[in-house]
Amino acid sequence: MSILITGGAGYVGGAVVDHLIEQDENVVVVDNLSRTPDSGLPDGVPFYQADIGDREAIAGIVRDHSVDACLHFAGLIAVGESVEQPGLYFEQNVSQTIALFDVLTTGGVDNVVFSSSAAVYGEPDQIPIPEDHPHRPTSPYGSTKSIVEQILTQYDLTGMIRSVSLRYFNAAGAAPGRSERHVPETHLIPLAIDAALGLRDPLTVFGTDYDTPDGTAVRDYVHVVDLADAHFRALDHLRSDGATDVFNLGNGEGYSVMQVIESVSRVAGREVPFILGDRRAGDPPVLVASADRAQQTLGWVPEHPELDDIVSSAWDSRSPA
Ligand code: UFG
Repeated sequence: MSILITGGAGYVGGAVVDHLIEQDENVVVVDNLSRTPDSGLPDGVPFYQADIGDREAIAGIVRDHSVDACLHFAGLIAVGESVEQPGLYFEQNVSQTIALFDVLTTGGVDNVVFSSSAAVYGEPDQIPIPEDHPHRPTSPYGSTKSIVEQILTQYDLTGMIRSVSLRYFNAAGAAPGRSERHVPETHLIPLAIDAALGLRDPLTVFGTDYDTPDGTAVRDYVHVVDLADAHFRALDHLRSDGATDVFNLGNGEGYSVMQVIESVSRVAGREVPFILGDRRAGDPPVLVASADRAQQTLGWVPEHPELDDIVSSAWDSRSPA
């Protein structure tokens, strides 16, 4: 039996592939490589370049590899881009996921771990945010994640799929042998590192008038290695007949954009050139997780909660030796 990893060539998906292989799991990866330069997979991992909405391709993979579970990472992830191109996000993240789940159920795959996001909450009423907080996404991206969670709730009621939706806060840092890379890069830590290295223009700080201690937006950065561990635990939960559930994945600690810039400067030993700019459309002011449920149900305790450690791993993976 194999685990189908959609988006397994991506940043978080790739780290999870490595982790599952270490645990002696059989995996098969599908990725369209639209936002990743290459598959970057370890030798011997079966890889198919295809869209998740390609029913024929996915059905063939499920059949040929005796797939019994799916970890669904594939999707577009840029909040700002989703505001500019909502149709693209609804098509890729929702329509194609609907096709994927239909093919999975037809093929008898009944366990799914889904990459959801803190973006489902929008502007939260309380910090840290518990999982039962209402969904009020402020971007099409967040909306796509909320819709797919609702679809999975209905699949659970039909008895066809049990699932775990993992609401990542800000995935960051680098897993061994892998750096964070997106095409185009829109994420704060890699952009700050590249600015410090002089590889890009100065970083633009998006918004300085938020209702936060220094006026810049606050996020909960969580190490990609800890995310990988959470996925393995989620899979284990489903295999042990655990119920369909959703979990926040964060450290419960918020850092502002300026604090991240300071951390990168500290770790890199050089200044991060930056300019102050307007808010980016769709960005909530503060997102910080309550991750108590993941700890209680999955036994998940992040091993790398410190921002400087997260930034150090990112720096080590990107800076010249
Ligand atoms: N930021 C800047 N300048 C930049 C890039 C980002 O100031 O050049 C700011 C953003 O405005 C935001 C913070 O840095 O306040 C983090 O931005 P990222 O783009 O790194 O991450 P986001 O918070 O926008 O989004 C990430 C994931 C989403 C997820 C979200 C949940 O990409 O998938 O975290 O917190 F939904």
